[in-house]
Amino acid sequence: MSITSDIFEVMDTCRAMRRLKPDPVDRDLLRKLVHAATRAPSAGNTQLWGFLIVDEPEGKQFLGELMREQFGARFQVPEGDEPPARMMRAVAELVNNFDQVPAVIFPCVENGYPPEGEPNPMFMWSTIYPATQNLLLAARALGLGAAMTTFQMANEEAIRERFGVPENVSIGATIPVGYPKGNFGPVTRKPVEDVIHWNGWNG
Ligand SMILES: Cc1cc2nc3c(=O)[nH]c(=O)nc-3n(C[C@H](O)[C@H](O)[C@H](O)COP(=O)(O)O)c2cc1C
Repeated sequence: MSITSDIFEVMDTCRAMRRLKPDPVDRDLLRKLVHAATRAPSAGNTQLWGFLIVDEPEGKQFLGELMREQFGARFQVPEGDEPPARMMRAVAELVNNFDQVPAVIFPCVENGYPPEGEPNPMFMWSTIYPATQNLLLAARALGLGAAMTTFQMANEEAIRERFGVPENVSIGATIPVGYPKGNFGPVTRKPVEDVIHWNGWNG
């Protein structure tokens, strides 16, 4: 099922979708993703976030060039059918075709909490990532492919300068969004009993 509002099905199938069709995504749908993102909690409800969305060709071309500079003219595509090789092939397809991604969302956040005294960056990151996860879940619910990536880390200054992101605002993630080429499927995670510690770490 590609569109679903069952929250557990959404979470169970919210895979990183890196293989995206170039078909445009309506801005109303992108607004819906940001609506979902901004329903998230934030430190003291300060909501110090902002969402840079690049959906015009010039901006996407700039981002595509940055990717090619970072990863080389062509990302090396590994052989084999094991999950890590398959994942790297999907990363390569995304990187090599970054200009064709319909929309790229950068969840951004200001370092401004607590408002009195020195702001603590821990609050900034712990504010932007719940919002980012809401955005990813909303994309999955709407049948849109998206992936949490940190591609901005190697190029943050260049992205900041090109799109006018202020100095006191940090970019938390780079989220490509589009209609997926493949199907949504279950995520692979550790069993719950392996990660719960009942009443103490040895429990
Ligand atoms: C903090 C963080 C950083 C990530 N960085 C990247 C990245 O730079 N590029 C990428 O393609 N995926 C990135 N991912 C996605 C992970 O590779 C992906 O969630 C993981 O392999 C599990 O795959 P799945 O979500 O499809 O089950 C990142 C995820 C997180 C949480």
